[in-house]
Amino acid sequence: MNKGMSDYEALPQVQQFKSRLFDHISVGDDIMEIGIGSGPNLKYYADKSIGKLMALEPNREFDEYIIQNVAKSNLQTKVDIVPGVAESIPKADNSVDVVVGTMVMCSVSSVKQSLAEVYRILKPGGRYIFIRSSSAGF
Ligand SMILES: C[S@@+](CC[C@H](N)C(=O)[O-])C[C@H]1O[C@@H](n2cnc3c(N)ncnc32)[C@H](O)[C@@H]1O
Repeated sequence: MNKGMSDYEALPQVQQFKSRLFDHISVGDDIMEIGIGSGPNLKYYADKSIGKLMALEPNREFDEYIIQNVAKSNLQTKVDIVPGVAESIPKADNSVDVVVGTMVMCSVSSVKQSLAEVYRILKPGGRYIFIRSSSAGF
């Protein structure tokens, strides 16, 4: 997937759209990205002086790509790879500022349960930044 999605990620309209979307992240935000895959969004955090970045991913095959893409991203923050699924996020209630999920909800077994988990871990006033697969028709 790291290679397969690179044409999509390189499209100017995708990059512009993601840049605007990730502008909803503020300095110091603690972020949980669900279903991070190989980490195609890592570069969009690099200039934001974010707090913690937690990378939830059930598939351990992606770990080496996440590590490679962190190194390429100029991200100053340490990234914690968190094994797990969106239906049961191993994180306390009201504990993160932002949840990010791009093209993930098509993969989960329960969208309802996953969204309930997103809501549970977000602090009051927190933000959920997402791209649905079917809305990413660039
Ligand atoms: C289509 S890929 C999208 C990857 C990345 N977010 C992107 O935008 O390219 C779906 C990702 O969700 C992960 N995934 C599958 N089931 C999941 C679940 N139940 N909870 C969280 N992530 C899941 C997959 O391992 C994969 O990394």
